[in-house]
Amino acid sequence: MAPNNRTAVCPGTFDPVTYGHLDVIGRASVMYDSVIVGVVDLPWRKGKTLFTAEERVAFLEKATSDLPNIIIEPFSTLLVEFARSRGAMAIVKGLRAISDFEYELEMNQLNRRQAPDIESVYLMASPKYSFLRSSGVKELATFGGDIHDLVPDEVARQLQERLGR
Ligand code: PNS
Repeated sequence: MAPNNRTAVCPGTFDPVTYGHLDVIGRASVMYDSVIVGVVDLPWRKGKTLFTAEERVAFLEKATSDLPNIIIEPFSTLLVEFARSRGAMAIVKGLRAISDFEYELEMNQLNRRQAPDIESVYLMASPKYSFLRSSGVKELATFGGDIHDLVPDEVARQLQERLGR
């Protein structure tokens, strides 16, 4: 697909999507004409995910249904190959804290080496989500913690069903 500087990819594992992810996706949707949310679909990468790629895509589709310029797609190639195949010239990610910075610096350099023409753009997490990560939400759900203001209702229900004791 021809490169288009009005299209961006927002990538992630999204296991599951949180309001922090949705905040970044929503802000990207204002900055770009079209945002493709790329959902990593590699069952063996970084251990098994709690939700299948189909489930993670479905959560994201429901949670972004009010945003007309968002497309959700699974991918299992290099991120830059996925971005290029969709004509995206930007990869948009959220950055929460210094702890994210080191990992993202490494990813940025790997991605830049593969595709210097695709720029990574980092949005600082909104303060109310700066502590929020999917693994923390899963831990809370496992021990019966309150997660209603961290993830969409449907996600909270499914987490409680799978992990609740
Ligand atoms: O932290 P996440 O959500 O697991 O991040 C996933 C992703 C793809 C955004 C991150 O690992 C990345 O930037 N990877 C670059 C290397 C690559 O392309 N890996 C293949 C992933 S299918």
